[in-house]
Amino acid sequence: MLDGRNIILGISGGIAAYKAAGWIRDLKREGAEVTVIMTRSATEFIAPLTCSALSGNRVHRDMFAREAAHEIPHINLAANADLIIIAPATANTIARLAHGMADDLLCAVVLAARCPVIVCPAMNDKMYRHPATRDNLATIGSRGTIVVDPGEGSLACRGNGPGRLPEFVEVREFVLAALSNQDLAGVKIMVTAGPTVEPLDQVRFLGNRATGRMGYAIAATARRRGADVTLISGPTSLAPPTGVNIVNVSTALEMRHAVMAGINEAEVVVKAAAVSDFRPAVSVDGKIKKAASGLDLQLTANPDILMELGRIKGKAEKPLLIGFAAEAGEKLGEGQRKLKEKNCDMMVVNNISDPDAGFAGESNRVVILYRNGGEERLPLLKKDEVADRIWDRIVRLRRRE
Ligand code: CTP
Repeated sequence: MLDGRNIILGISGGIAAYKAAGWIRDLKREGAEVTVIMTRSATEFIAPLTCSALSGNRVHRDMFAREAAHEIPHINLAANADLIIIAPATANTIARLAHGMADDLLCAVVLAARCPVIVCPAMNDKMYRHPATRDNLATIGSRGTIVVDPGEGSLACRGNGPGRLPEFVEVREFVLAALSNQDLAGVKIMVTAGPTVEPLDQVRFLGNRATGRMGYAIAATARRRGADVTLISGPTSLAPPTGVNIVNVSTALEMRHAVMAGINEAEVVVKAAAVSDFRPAVSVDGKIKKAASGLDLQLTANPDILMELGRIKGKAEKPLLIGFAAEAGEKLGEGQRKLKEKNCDMMVVNNISDPDAGFAGESNRVVILYRNGGEERLPLLKKDEVADRIWDRIVRLRRRE
């Protein structure tokens, strides 16, 4: 996700500096080009050699080191950076940032840079809670710096409270958001994801193979692009994406209820959920006992939520309705039929028989169908990338391009 991005990792002098070594590896693994800047006190906690070996680049420490006569380190580093992350950010470094000081290379680079800056405070809990640190964090936050709250727990200084440097995976969404075009800033988006499960009794249910991955990717990428996202999810094993308002449901009727409760607010609805078309006519309280004669199941049709949304929308422009058609085989005609019948603006068709594009995998290969009969075939992509391409198309629809 970070291919070709130039990221400066600024390490200041706290005990959590040792964790920054892992962050360099994580950033590299995502494809980023990592340049490390260390403050003088950071070098007391972690060796520059460790950081240069892991990043594959020279570590910068000195304002006045020049490799060539025309090089001005803080200006060059600032100009080339797509993002600066300071982790750990000590109380001292935060104070110097808040006051716009430029007395070391890291702070000078931040002043000279125009790219996003993410600050990850990590320190003793009392230092973190001190009004001076709180004010300094508020000051840099008000200027647009992204401040990631530290984790809580036992600290190296034997304190207990807020002050731990999070793992990179907890900060990853902030990084991706900082590097994303904010073309969905403030847009209210509803996404449905996952399967619905329909109880037969207290033990069994009718379900389907949907994992929720595609819908969760749709929600996470919209959030990265600045949207205000509500994710209505059937049961999945996935962690809710950072910053998304999650509503957990189980049955199709519960999903319908949650969708209708939020529909007036939504500007875009993406229905990626695999809603069960049927539910058992009766759900038995307790457990159905086995019988040698077998069991006849009576099923009742569930409401078609998307069809209902299409009817409510009528000829109005909002909300934009995007459906997902799951077809066994490449049945674009079925996709077109659903698009028209459900009054959608776009229908994303995926062939669930394609081994690369099934429910459980990390990838998907989809065809996007439009109201005007147009169709667009996307290549095999990771689900996050498919989601981003879908949002590119939705942004264009919103701009009527
Ligand atoms: N959908 C819905 N409510 C249902 C069934 C489907 O909102 N009861 C939505 C899905 O979330 C999806 C779209 O309709 O966005 C298409 O779903 P799909 O299962 O492909 O089509 P169905 O209309 O259920 O038709 P069929 O199962 O016969 O292919």
